[in-house]
Amino acid sequence: MAATVALTGASGFIGNTIAHYLRHAGYSIQGLVRSPQQAKKLESLGAEPILGDLGNPKSLIPFVQNCQFVIHCAGTIRGIDRADFQATNVNGISHLIQACLEQSSPPSFVLLSSLAAREPSLSPYAWSKREGEKKLIKEAHSMKWVIFRPPAVYGPNDKALLPLFNLIDKGIGLQLGPSHAKFSLIHVKDLAGVILCWLRKEFPTSTIFEVDDGFPGGYSWTEVFQTINSQLRFRFHCPPVLLHTVGKSNEILAGLLRYSPLFTTGKVKELLHPNWVCDSTPVKQALDWAPQIPLSEGLRHLFTSDSLI
Ligand SMILES: NC(=O)c1ccc[n+]([C@@H]2O[C@H](COP(=O)([O-])OP(=O)(O)OC[C@H]3O[C@@H](n4cnc5c(N)ncnc54)[C@H](OP(=O)(O)O)[C@@H]3O)[C@@H](O)[C@H]2O)c1
Repeated sequence: MAATVALTGASGFIGNTIAHYLRHAGYSIQGLVRSPQQAKKLESLGAEPILGDLGNPKSLIPFVQNCQFVIHCAGTIRGIDRADFQATNVNGISHLIQACLEQSSPPSFVLLSSLAAREPSLSPYAWSKREGEKKLIKEAHSMKWVIFRPPAVYGPNDKALLPLFNLIDKGIGLQLGPSHAKFSLIHVKDLAGVILCWLRKEFPTSTIFEVDDGFPGGYSWTEVFQTINSQLRFRFHCPPVLLHTVGKSNEILAGLLRYSPLFTTGKVKELLHPNWVCDSTPVKQALDWAPQIPLSEGLRHLFTSDSLI
């Protein structure tokens, strides 16, 4: 019988792709959803929706019942201060672990963290991702676990990088970090692929893996511009002071209009950090896995809306 996976975040960008891949590979899915509308979307994918919230520990018990794996992909990516991120990215993990440990046979736990966790002092988001990892490491006891730390993830339905990529495609190169900065990237489908690879082996456990598209040494802004559009009409290097001003203004506006901002002063500190390069050698060796989608191909499919599955 196919294994059952309890998946959080299936209504989001990355979780939705993982759900597609799991179904394609024959897994049964129990998906945590916060609204009946999301439940319908998940049903159409062939998954069983379970209504609940990471902030509501009781709702997580039926969610993890009878599953062999938990893939914890839900997370808060928008907010200003630590409190905005703590409820889901830290406390939510604790609640989910407790629900798993209450099962007679606890599932294996896959946590989708972030490369940001490597630099917890940079931003409230980075801090929350590191604290979430610490919760799992401390509270998992005998439960098997693995943590994946992807860098910036791109792909269909991504709301963070796609607008920037679209601008570059139109000939406008907006550089949001230092010229000497290097960063890794990964296509969402490669990320789903490496997680599925781990599910098949369930080994190694108690490990944190960085994962990327295998581009050696990471990308510079120039390399990204050239890959997307070698004939930019206009290139603008946003100075740090402008980035900080936009981040601060967005925070003030968000407070007034009551929305959760993505572009904040914390995000600016992440953007100005010079080294977001992954070392994916350990995961490649341990899982005998290799990324399949170089940036040029991922972008071609993105701009032509071709499916890569
Ligand atoms: N995108 C990237 O570049 C990137 C890079 C590295 C790591 N990550 C990590 O990957 C994960 C997913 O990111 P994403 O880009 O897919 O974000 P996303 O599109 O905003 O999706 C977030 C998901 O989490 C769910 N969620 C949030 N709070 C919840 C709660 N209290 N209870 C239950 N579900 C909750 C959301 O459900 P609703 O639909 O109900 O809101 C949604 O399904 C996050 O943990 C993020 O830190 C992302």
